[in-house]
Amino acid sequence: MDEKKIILSGIKPSGALTLGSYLGAIKNWVELSDTYNCYYMMADMHAITIRQDPAALRRTTLEQIAQYIACGLDPDKNVIFIQSQVPAHAELSWVLSCYTMFGELSRMTQFKDKSAKNADNINAGLFTYPALMAADILIYQADLVPVGDDQKQHVELTRDIAGRFNGIYGDVFKLPEPFIPKVGARIMSLQDPTSKMSKSEQDTGGCVCLMDKPEDIMRAFKRAVTDSDTRVRYDVKEKPGVSNLMQIYAVAAGKSVIETEKDFDCRGYGDFKQAVGEAVVELLRPVREEAARLLSDKAYLEKVYTEGAEKAAYTANKTLRKVYKKIGFVQK
Ligand code: TYM
Repeated sequence: MDEKKIILSGIKPSGALTLGSYLGAIKNWVELSDTYNCYYMMADMHAITIRQDPAALRRTTLEQIAQYIACGLDPDKNVIFIQSQVPAHAELSWVLSCYTMFGELSRMTQFKDKSAKNADNINAGLFTYPALMAADILIYQADLVPVGDDQKQHVELTRDIAGRFNGIYGDVFKLPEPFIPKVGARIMSLQDPTSKMSKSEQDTGGCVCLMDKPEDIMRAFKRAVTDSDTRVRYDVKEKPGVSNLMQIYAVAAGKSVIETEKDFDCRGYGDFKQAVGEAVVELLRPVREEAARLLSDKAYLEKVYTEGAEKAAYTANKTLRKVYKKIGFVQK
């Protein structure tokens, strides 16, 4: 019997993959993928909570698959799939939304942030999104959910929903744990280090994307906002810009934040920014090259996501059938 524990995680293909998603999530997915049975998806159903251009959504979804593989996720060892191709997610999501409280959803900070930013489109999906995310996780009986810091609240709500459901019907769902990296859990914007790096900032220079050219990456780091001091010292409160760059450097160069502080003691910000830029360029170079190669092989990508959806559906349908039986739906 396969004793490996299970991982599920995903990213919305609502734009290019950023350095934030890479350091906060994907890097850990790759590290954990040997020891767990892993399901990694393109969360396209989540993406449409914000209005998407159809052609762009299709393109970014395929690009994201190529980038997952290029980052080191072997499709023979990991189930790589597109969320909308496994209908059981939507089906379980409806059931779970009947076990999720309005008050709980109202407290989600991401809902508050996103509805403030999209005041003309505060749709019901944006509000019930955490019930779909709970379905994504619980349908695979995941033990671990590797995510950045901003998703922790959603994973905690998932545990509450699962606990409530189990309390009524017996042990149906496994309670998942979030897995948040010690360094890199919240990469900040290079232009405004008090807000999270996000895909929406591509034009302002605040964000670096996995497919960016080396010269663009270097330029973004050279222009990164720091402070009027000159010392490379870790202090998130007083020096948020420099501390963010130190985190990025530490993960990209495989060092600790303390080592980074020592390495750059008495060297100015100019030197430091150059080194961070170079470390990120080298970290992303193989990803960019391999993703570009994979993208030109559409037949291969299609094979990956078709087989991925089949494997995912097999597991997901087992949980869905159990849930339907427990709640009293007549079985076929
Ligand atoms: P999304 O698409 O916003 O982000 C994808 C992943 O990247 C992490 N992340 C970051 N980590 C560090 N610093 C940043 N600046 C940064 N920006 C993004 C996020 O924490 C996340 O891990 N709801 C999810 C997608 C999702 C999901 C799931 C995740 C749907 N179903 C089930 C886990 C399990 C989302 O919007 O992530």
